[in-house]
Amino acid sequence: MIQPLLQIEELCLESDGHRILNSVSISINQGEVVAILGHNGAGKSSLAYTIMGLTDYKPSNGRIFYQGKDITTKMIDQRAKLGIGLAWQEPARFEGVLVKEYLRISDNESATNPEVTFEDRCTNYLKLVGLDPERYLDRALDEKLSGGERKKIELAATFLRNPKLMLLDEPDSGIDAEGTTLVKGLISQFAKSGNSALIITHQPYIAEVADRVAILCKGSIERIGEAREMLDYYYTICQGCPNRFDSDLK
Ligand SMILES: Nc1ncnc2c1ncn2[C@@H]1O[C@H](COP(=O)(O)OP(=O)(O)OP(=O)(O)O)[C@@H](O)[C@H]1O
Ligand SMILES: [Mg+2]
Repeated sequence: MIQPLLQIEELCLESDGHRILNSVSISINQGEVVAILGHNGAGKSSLAYTIMGLTDYKPSNGRIFYQGKDITTKMIDQRAKLGIGLAWQEPARFEGVLVKEYLRISDNESATNPEVTFEDRCTNYLKLVGLDPERYLDRALDEKLSGGERKKIELAATFLRNPKLMLLDEPDSGIDAEGTTLVKGLISQFAKSGNSALIITHQPYIAEVADRVAILCKGSIERIGEAREMLDYYYTICQGCPNRFDSDLK
């Protein structure tokens, strides 16, 4: 049997006495795209932060295995070194940092792909997310950039980091329809080269790019399966369900 790249077993997360994740089990294979689909407050970002190992997101129960090794107690930097990368729902602003500087410190591909220069990689990824490199490389990564522009730069930086497992928290938030189509194409391409992605979203149309979809409801996996079937379930059952207004655990 092929060993999954990531395996999560019965993960529980609590914060200030509030149960956020309830016995979540899910696996992601190499080269696979899995989407976590759920309404606002379902626990999607919390799941991504727990996988990434953020300080305030230590599970109260359950285990996380990556490449067969238990990483449940590993720190965020160790997980990043192992190849797990997170694209934040809300990208950061950095006063005084230029877009090209941010992309340079994000670039991880130089070791694996020395034939292509950083400039070429960086230009390529900016174009792939729908930004003209000439207009953006020398701009500051601050509040003068629009939300959609910052999100696209964050995505370009995440792809430059070239993680083995990319956690994408709401990759389309703030991005127009054309940009979203580009991002979906990038995710597919990323998986075709043997990498894996976990897409966190409340938008079914972005989950269409996944091989499998897990529906997260009030901190629990409601269903998991082949994307088309899960999206049909989400459109017909979840969108009329009263639980979508209630994040208290089932
Ligand atoms: N530290 C905390 N203390 C109490 N409740 C918290 C804490 N952190 C998160 N929550 C709650 O846990 C639930 C899940 O939050 P989370 O951010 O993971 O949701 P989400 O599915 O990503 O939602 P969205 O689609 O709005 O981004 C929410 O009800 C949130 O208010
Ligand atoms: Mg979220």
